[in-house]
Amino acid sequence: MPEQNTIAVWDPLIRLFHWSLVAAFLVAYLTEDDLMTLHVWAGYTVLGLIGFRLLWGIVGTRHARFTDFVRSPSVVLAYLRDIAAQRAKRHLGHNPAGGAMVIVLLVTLLLIGLTGLGVYAVEEHAGPLAGMLGGLGHDAEEFLEEAHEWLANLAVVLIVLHVAGVVLAGRQHGENLVRAMINGRKRAAERR
Ligand code: HEM
Repeated sequence: MPEQNTIAVWDPLIRLFHWSLVAAFLVAYLTEDDLMTLHVWAGYTVLGLIGFRLLWGIVGTRHARFTDFVRSPSVVLAYLRDIAAQRAKRHLGHNPAGGAMVIVLLVTLLLIGLTGLGVYAVEEHAGPLAGMLGGLGHDAEEFLEEAHEWLANLAVVLIVLHVAGVVLAGRQHGENLVRAMINGRKRAAERR
């Protein structure tokens, strides 16, 4: 039975997407040098999840859609100023700053996956890009490897900021956003 005075915000696919992404990223990150087969499969999983999320951002449920949370840079900056001044408005879906972080995370993870496919093709002559990139030389290999690693480290920084943002927003609005990403529900009405 849903808690009283709560409203469904995150649909089951978004929640499954989120926690699968957390697990797949963690596995890929921890297996970077050895366990190559596991690393590659975790990477494919991340790419598949991002593909799903891009589609779901267009045809998904209300708060999953990009139109629900992607805002212009000026709106995002104004919202960040409001957070600093402790007067940021509560949003049922992603707030403008959270929405911007979602996009940055998705793009970064997509680039990590694509550069990973590139490294796999050049180095191992394997994967879906092997036919296209398999013949590239040492410089290309170096570049792709550096980019892949740099982006992965960037993702870790972004994830730390993402979790910090989730904790901060939850505190400012007196709600448990992590639980909402588990059971999909948020408080419907404002507290008095
Ligand atoms: C254990 C650490 C994490 C926690 C507690 C957490 C929590 C959350 C929460 C509460 C939201 C919803 C934010 C809101 O209310 O607006 C969210 C969204 C999101 N998080 Fe995380 N997160 C974690 C780790 C990660 C990691 C590691 C990634 C990426 C690899 C990630 C990517 C995302 C994305 C892409 C969204 C947007 C969900 C969507 O709309 O599809 N998160 N996260």
